[in-house]
Amino acid sequence: MMTHRASAIVTGAGSGIGRAIALRLAADGYAVLVNDLSGDRAQVVASEIISAGGMATAIAGDVARPEDVAAIHAAAEASHGDVDLLVNNAGIAHQAAFEDLELEDFDRMFAVHVRGTFLMTKAVMPAMLRRGEGVIVNVASQLGQIGGIELVHYSGAKAAIIGMTKALAREVSSCGVRVNAVAPGPINTPLVLGLSEEWRERKKRELPLGRFGEPEEVAATVAFLASPAASLFVGQTLGPNSGDVML
Ligand SMILES: NC(=O)c1ccc[n+]([C@@H]2O[C@H](COP(=O)([O-])OP(=O)(O)OC[C@H]3O[C@@H](n4cnc5c(N)ncnc54)[C@H](O)[C@@H]3O)[C@@H](O)[C@H]2O)c1
Repeated sequence: MMTHRASAIVTGAGSGIGRAIALRLAADGYAVLVNDLSGDRAQVVASEIISAGGMATAIAGDVARPEDVAAIHAAAEASHGDVDLLVNNAGIAHQAAFEDLELEDFDRMFAVHVRGTFLMTKAVMPAMLRRGEGVIVNVASQLGQIGGIELVHYSGAKAAIIGMTKALAREVSSCGVRVNAVAPGPINTPLVLGLSEEWRERKKRELPLGRFGEPEEVAATVAFLASPAASLFVGQTLGPNSGDVML
C-alpha cells in the first residue's frame, strides 16, 4: 500500500496508446496528469480514471509550445506534487511520398515528437536531478529503427527520440534518473487507422505474430520500464512489436 501516490505525466493521453498508459499507471497507483492537444479528450480519460477510483487531472496543451509545457508541468506539481514519471507519448501520423513531402509537414512532425519530448523533459528534469530520482519513458516507434516507406519525417523524428533517449540516459543515470524508450510496432489506434488500408494489410501479413498490438500491450511495457523491476534498464529501446523487428 503506497502512503504517497507517485505522480506521472502522460502526454497525448486522450487517445490510443497514451490513454492506455494513463489508465494502466493510474491502476498501478500513480496520480496521473492527463495531457492532450484536445482538452475534451484529456478530460474524458481523466474522468475514466477517477470513476475507477484513481487520481487524475486533465490539461489541454501542445507539447511543442514552451508556454503550454510550462502550464502542463505546473498543473502536475500543483495537483499531484513532485513528478516521478514522465511519459512522452504525444504524436501524430502523416504519410507522404518523399517528393510530395512539404517542409511544413516535416517541421510539424519534428515539433510534436522531437521538440515536444525535449521541452517536456527539460521541464521535469531539474526537480528530478535535485531529488536524485525520476523516470522518463519516451514513446518512439520501430519505424525509427527500420524506417517506413512514405514516412521519412516520422521515421526521422522517432530515430531522433531514440538517440535522445540514449544520450540523456548516459548523462543522468548516475544521478538517479532512468531514461528509456519503447518502440512499438503497429498498434490498433486511431493513428494507425489513419494510414492507408493497403499499408495496414501488407504490414499485418509481414508480422510473425500475425496481428497488430493493442494499446494495453504497449502500456504494460511502459509500466514495466517505470517500475523498480526495470532498475537495470538504462537508455534501452524495448520493442512491443509483434516480432516485426528483432534486435
Ligand atoms: N499506433 C501505432 O501503431 C504506433 C506505433 C509506434 C509508435 N506510436 C506512437 O505512439 C504514440 C501514440 O500514438 P497513438 O497511436 O496512440 O495515436 P493517437 O492518434 O490515437 O493518439 C495520439 C494523441 O496525441 C495527441 N497529440 C498530438 N499532438 C499533440 C501535441 N502536440 N501535444 C499534445 N498532444 C498531442 C493527439 O491529440 C492524440 O489524442 C505516438 O507517439 C505514436 O507516434 C504509435
